[in-house]
Amino acid sequence: MPQVTVEEPFSSGVPARTPERATLDKRRYIEPSAVAAEWEAIWTRCWLFAGLESDLPDVGDYFVYNVGVESIVILRDEESRIRAFYNVCQHRGNRIFTNERGAVQQVACPYHGWRYALDGQLVIVPDEERFCPAVDKEERSLKPVNLATWAGTVWINMDPGAIPLEEYLGPIIDNLAPYHFENMQLAKHQTVALDANWKTVRDNFLEQYHVDFIHPQHASLVDCCNSENTLWPYGHSATMVEGYVTNSRYRVPEKTPDHLVVLLDGIGLAPEDFHGRVGEIRETVQKRKREVGKRLGFDYSQLSDAQVTDVWQYDIFPNMFMTIQAEEVWIYGPRPHPTDPDKCFFDKWTLQIPLEVGSDPEQGLSLNPRLMVSRHDERPEHDSFTAADVIDGKHSLTITIDQDIYYLSDMQAGMHSRGFDHALLNEDEVRVQHFHDWLQSFLAEDIV
Ligand code: FES
Ligand SMILES: [Fe+2]
Repeated sequence: MPQVTVEEPFSSGVPARTPERATLDKRRYIEPSAVAAEWEAIWTRCWLFAGLESDLPDVGDYFVYNVGVESIVILRDEESRIRAFYNVCQHRGNRIFTNERGAVQQVACPYHGWRYALDGQLVIVPDEERFCPAVDKEERSLKPVNLATWAGTVWINMDPGAIPLEEYLGPIIDNLAPYHFENMQLAKHQTVALDANWKTVRDNFLEQYHVDFIHPQHASLVDCCNSENTLWPYGHSATMVEGYVTNSRYRVPEKTPDHLVVLLDGIGLAPEDFHGRVGEIRETVQKRKREVGKRLGFDYSQLSDAQVTDVWQYDIFPNMFMTIQAEEVWIYGPRPHPTDPDKCFFDKWTLQIPLEVGSDPEQGLSLNPRLMVSRHDERPEHDSFTAADVIDGKHSLTITIDQDIYYLSDMQAGMHSRGFDHALLNEDEVRVQHFHDWLQSFLAEDIV
């Protein structure tokens, strides 16, 4: 049975709550009025994960974060500070940056040539004397957006009165500090356009009830039924499943199962040594990885034993999931479509420790067989594609997420049926319920 912990209030004083038994009205997934209400109450008020600090190594580097109807540019200014501005010219409202990433010396609007310094200050107005009254350069500077960084990730908040990011994330920051995501490197960056509401996508990743049915490859290797769930204020939650174990619904196998063989080989353990004692693998790996990591140059010393072997998923309201292992993290989540409740975009960043510290081909060692990037590799291209491309096998976000994508459009289509009114949630869907409780609180402006 899943374990649920509701954590005490943290510094904001916002109480955690034991979720009430929920039924979810289908209208929140399909009505255009929900798009507008969520935009005002959630997307323009919450902290949003926007990208990676590693995309801004030098002065003038920028990337653009598009969400709903809004476009925000994030850049590194002359003082090496990272700043965010609405990506809109203060002359007549042209969207300035049309490339996703790049480097500039000044921010130049291509329409009539207004120029802004990297701190947003308007500095050049062609034929300035033709404006009457004169252009007020302070007032017509780029409009700033709140920005914060954490462990190599970049966040924005469009609400000028927003609480600090540290307060919004609460204990999550300390929990995840030992992983040092800032030392990981981008291995893949993908975006898929989906025919589903952003919350349909969110719900999918907030429960493991579906795992045995649509992810058959996990049935024997992931013990989802015994996951540990934690709920926090603002709609954040986490779940943990143990790694290097077998599903407790089934008898422990006599022989080391295939999915663990490659993992044990990589850290120099003989799979056959565990025949008859498969239940001891997880603890043995926790010790062994620390030893092999020391030899290769990867330091596990700040991580707990559970963090060395297990898979944690953190769900940060409203747009970020992190699936975390010691050597690799996936950051992913939905972005709403500007107008259509039946569509959204799903972004995924795969970050890994570099091959140089996670493997040694000569000794046949690898702390994680998925490692694929070297310190010297270029930033990977950002791949954008559609759900049909995934279903046709042309693109993949890993087999597990591909399987989720396969079902998401059918979930969304079902919401439109006259034969369906409300979703009904079980105890394994407690994080779905928690997310929707907080969604409702934001919509009702009832968050304190
Ligand atoms: S709209 Fe940008 S310079 Fe005119
Ligand atoms: Fe899934």
